Amino acid sequence: KLHKICVLPGDGIGPEIMTVAKKALSLAGQKEGEEFQYTDCLIGGAAIDATGKPLPDETLATAKASDAVLLAAIGGYKWDTLPSAQRPERGLLAIRAGLNAFANLRPAIVPRQLADSSPLKRELVEGVDILIVRELVGGIYFGQPRGFGTNDKGERIGYNTDVYSEPEVERIARVAFEAARKRGKRLCSVEKSNVLEVSQLWKEVVIRVGKDYPDVELSHMYIDNAAMQLLRNPKYFDVIVTGNIFGDILSDEASMLAGSLGLLPSASISGAGPGIYEPVHGSAPDIAGQDKANPLAMVLSAAMMCRYDLAIPKVAERLEKAVDAVLDAGLRTGDIYKQGTPNTKLVKCSEMGEAL
Ligand code: NAI
Ligand code: MG
Repeated sequence: KLHKICVLPGDGIGPEIMTVAKKALSLAGQKEGEEFQYTDCLIGGAAIDATGKPLPDETLATAKASDAVLLAAIGGYKWDTLPSAQRPERGLLAIRAGLNAFANLRPAIVPRQLADSSPLKRELVEGVDILIVRELVGGIYFGQPRGFGTNDKGERIGYNTDVYSEPEVERIARVAFEAARKRGKRLCSVEKSNVLEVSQLWKEVVIRVGKDYPDVELSHMYIDNAAMQLLRNPKYFDVIVTGNIFGDILSDEASMLAGSLGLLPSASISGAGPGIYEPVHGSAPDIAGQDKANPLAMVLSAAMMCRYDLAIPKVAERLEKAVDAVLDAGLRTGDIYKQGTPNTKLVKCSEMGEAL
């Protein structure tokens, strides 16, 4: 089958890691009878230089007409002095909004070959494979009313509102249950329903949606306990679903289980229409153009795209196995290379790509 991919290499190391990902994806697809048609478009600083806008209309139109969007990274020193409304980062927010990407999926996987580079003990993190599903466009970051004011004692106050509607919870819960169904079939919903009404509604709706997924085992945890369990026993978790602010904090906490940014993929999806698949890291301007970047997060993002948007899990598995194999072979780009580790070799981005 032919899959139309909108490719956004962006800035900095973006084009280098994207070259690797496209080639790996095409080869993995070939083995499974899947074909990819890539349409390269501009975003970020590269788009500002060429068109004056961080997200040209043409890019958004191509993205909407594609099966999925593969994005490397945007930003760099050159554009850092622009006013924030004109910066490359705006392109990222605009494409997420333009595709209604309300669900942010962030796996926290610790490859066994790298379990020693985690700040936690090897026994705790070896084999960790968690998927955090974070609601991205609601909750306290967007709720109204918000602002500054004065209380009845005449003191200045700041306030925000944590609010979710039933349909907002329902759609993120469905994404999480669907994801859990494709993985370990266990879902943990994280909230604070012992204190917050918004969390009580969250929990009720998640339980209701769960009736449609009898094959997925549902559990519930308060956010404070979840933050603790993530460090005490991370292997307890398979898929976690949570609101915007709790997900923000938990996904940053979970990313440190792996110890390196260069390995972490992500997806931002709407559940209908194309999703955006991108590494968690930025454009790494300090090493751009030097063939030093780690392309594995980008390749694993392509694997997520195959699994979640394109429904070709066998291609995803091939990519994941290739990543496993190059790590087994001891190949390490600079960010994951530890001098003195036996049977490892420092390699360039392009060498890692060839090996994949
Ligand atoms: P960064 O993630 O680009 O870099 C942080 C550090 O990690 C740097 O030392 C970098 O060399 C290293 N690093 C990151 N990815 C790597 C990879 N694949 N291989 C090897 N080393 C890697 O974050 P930073 O420095 O805060 O931001 C740089 C630029 O990226 C900024 O313009 C920022 O706005 C943008 N950015 C873009 C994001 C995106 O496109 N989604 C996300 C985060 C930052
Ligand atoms: Mg954050």
